[in-house]
Amino acid sequence: MSESFKALIVNQHGENFTREVKSIDKTFLKHGDVLVKVAYSTLNYKDALILKNGARLVKEFPHIPGIDFSGTVVESENKNFKKDDEIICTGRRVGEIYFGGYSQFAKVNGDFLIKKPKDLTFKQAMILGTAGLTALQCAFTTKLAREELLLGEKVENVLVTGASGGVGSIAVMILSKLGCNVTAVTSKESNNEYLKSIGAKSITKSSDLDKDPRPLDKGIWDGAVDTVGGNILSNVLPHIKENGIVAAVGNASGIKLNTTVMPFIIRGVKLWGIDSVHTSSKRREFLWGEASKLINFPLLEKSVKEISLEELLKIFPTMLEGKTTGRYIVNLNK
Ligand SMILES: NC(=O)c1ccc[n+]([C@@H]2O[C@H](COP(=O)([O-])OP(=O)(O)OC[C@H]3O[C@@H](n4cnc5c(N)ncnc54)[C@H](OP(=O)(O)O)[C@@H]3O)[C@@H](O)[C@H]2O)c1
Repeated sequence: MSESFKALIVNQHGENFTREVKSIDKTFLKHGDVLVKVAYSTLNYKDALILKNGARLVKEFPHIPGIDFSGTVVESENKNFKKDDEIICTGRRVGEIYFGGYSQFAKVNGDFLIKKPKDLTFKQAMILGTAGLTALQCAFTTKLAREELLLGEKVENVLVTGASGGVGSIAVMILSKLGCNVTAVTSKESNNEYLKSIGAKSITKSSDLDKDPRPLDKGIWDGAVDTVGGNILSNVLPHIKENGIVAAVGNASGIKLNTTVMPFIIRGVKLWGIDSVHTSSKRREFLWGEASKLINFPLLEKSVKEISLEELLKIFPTMLEGKTTGRYIVNLNK
């Protein structure tokens, strides 16, 4: 491998938080037993929080963020991986407590890796990244957990909040592909056409779901994927029909949940928490293996912007302001 390579390093000295693209060498990489030449990484909401100030997730500085990456094994001391294996890494606290993928080379614990399915490219794997893996988990929960695991009725009408975001937009696409009528909830009217193009049947404004919630309201949806939490989730629960599942995944609009037991004990609604960070390798392999069947990559790629590490530094603050649409992937060779 080349002697020196490029990485995005964040650092903290007292109140002073810095982030810059630097040249480092292999001795800087301190964790793990598998060295990977990174092809692509991605920008998730959590990455943007870490790039801002470490988000209390990073415990030691200097640090290399980037919670996801795809690439090729260069050296391995792990029995499950060998040179030239093509891998995907998402979550597992990589980019938080361990060095992550905003680097041309990354070293991680091989137990965190899964082999990339042959029918996905490195780029497609990162177009999905944690957002895609999480959206797959949410869609399987909302639709298939009720229909197949709980042997419930068909799930037809579903709601996705934060629909133009990374998780939301991919969840819209998957649920639509699984045959659901998807209502996309978005705060920006300018996203309507895009959301329809990826499979949303109808659009609702976030503000329509940002009022004082009633304990129970008219049952409208068979299930929901909620990426924003807060008052919006409080308003979603009373509108879920009997036995519907709400996959709760994010907190962009707040962590507090103002609800009552009524949706749960009168309608049997289930609030199903999603954690993509600690998902088992077996489950990851299954979900990644389903991706190429459920994702329309040519369509998704229209909303993907490919950026460099340097461009990433300019873009992450706009994500925190809720002003980004679609996915940003980081090309480590750009
Ligand atoms: N549990 C897990 O394992 C897991 C995994 C991945 C992500 N997450 C969480 O899921 C959430 C979404 O992640 P992401 O990567 O998709 O982020 P993202 O791309 O920034 O999408 C979030 C979307 O939520 C909406 N939004 C943002 N701020 C809002 C606000 N104040 N009120 C209402 N809506 C707001 C926006 O959609 P519109 O413009 O359409 O309104 C935005 O595009 C984040 O909270 C993230 O931390 C959790």
